[in-house]
Amino acid sequence: MKKIVITGGAGFIGSHVVRLFVTKYPDYQIYNLDALTYAGNLENISDITDAANYTFIKGDIKDYQFLKTLFQEQQFDAVIHLAAESHVDRSITDPNAFIETNVLGTANLMNAFRNACSDNFENKLFYHISTDEVYGSLGKTGLFTETTPYDPQSPYAASKAASDHMVRAYGNTYKMPFVISNCSNNYGANQFPEKLIPLFINNIKNNKSLPVYGDGQYTRDWLYVVDHAKAIDLIFHEGKIGETYNIGGFNEWTNLELIHLLCAQMDEKLGREKGSSSKLITFVKDRAGHDRRYAIDASKLNRELGWKPSLTFEEGLSKTIDWYLENETWLNNVTSGAYQEYYKKMYS
Ligand code: NAD
Ligand code: DAU
Repeated sequence: MKKIVITGGAGFIGSHVVRLFVTKYPDYQIYNLDALTYAGNLENISDITDAANYTFIKGDIKDYQFLKTLFQEQQFDAVIHLAAESHVDRSITDPNAFIETNVLGTANLMNAFRNACSDNFENKLFYHISTDEVYGSLGKTGLFTETTPYDPQSPYAASKAASDHMVRAYGNTYKMPFVISNCSNNYGANQFPEKLIPLFINNIKNNKSLPVYGDGQYTRDWLYVVDHAKAIDLIFHEGKIGETYNIGGFNEWTNLELIHLLCAQMDEKLGREKGSSSKLITFVKDRAGHDRRYAIDASKLNRELGWKPSLTFEEGLSKTIDWYLENETWLNNVTSGAYQEYYKKMYS
């Protein structure tokens, strides 16, 4: 029996991790701790809400007193920490929100964990979920490895880098057992439509323009979210304490290549004339400080723990589009209200 608190479990990646742990490990007690910000949505995990080994806790990691009481009462064995402000564009308009949640929130969680076990960490684990953006931007060649020096370029990336450093510092100073994984761009069901793929699926569906930043030649390495959740499961159970694991799809696309593939698949699925969606492409002002290229070397995870992605990008993208087309109510709910204000501010 293990008692695990997963933070950010109502968000995109967190909901897939919560589902995997709740269904695969009926002997574990899974606590989903989430503040339900604009990005958190209990509909993402409505299928497992009634499971006997699942409990939802609404709470904010910025609130140390709340965390202290919760951790003291529950005596969790492990933390899997995904809660974060996660969108680069929002970090450009409001960097402090990223410092507060991503840096201070992570420190609060570790402080509550330390306090609850009085620094006796036997059989305990703090698993911190991070991003490849901490490594900065690559030129045309090369890959991020676990030893690439940190060089974060956006307020979001800097806040994640700071939280990674804090986790390692707690490991060194207080002997808190930890693992960290740094993953590339995720895509799949339940991603909030502020990120490239769900935003563009929604816009194509509604015949709205597709705002491509700058020249569209920026490169990302895409990973299907379920494969990320499986990697987290593996690292949680078999990763070495104090280690870092890079997770990626071995799957690089420039934004324009990706968008053309998305347009072609959408034309076919919506029964539209070939080439009609790509006519919606509109080049807009570039993102400030836009990182040119990310690419992950995930060979350590493959070599040491035997993980590899399960799908091709074409397959994963097709499943993702199908999910968004089949889940119109989900999409309508998350794009009503505050989303319209955000969209106007970002893209008008
Ligand atoms: P998301 O924005 O979809 O979800 C974040 C979740 O955290 C939401 O449910 C939100 O309500 C919750 N949250 C935010 N602030 C909180 C707070 N103060 N207290 C409690 N809960 C709070 O994010 P995501 O894309 O699922 O990313 C999850 C994690 O994975 C993040 O740490 C992110 O940095 C990391 N990551 C994301 C990607 C990606 O491509 N999306 C890639 C690598 C790493
Ligand atoms: O690399 C991992 C990171 O990937 C995660 O840590 C972040 O949480 C996640 O948001 C993601 O960051 P990106 O900035 O790479 O993702 P985003 O979907 O915002 O953008 C992907 C690319 O598409 C990027 O080059 C910017 C571009 N873009 C994005 C949007 C929203 C556009 O051209 N137009 C857009 O409207």
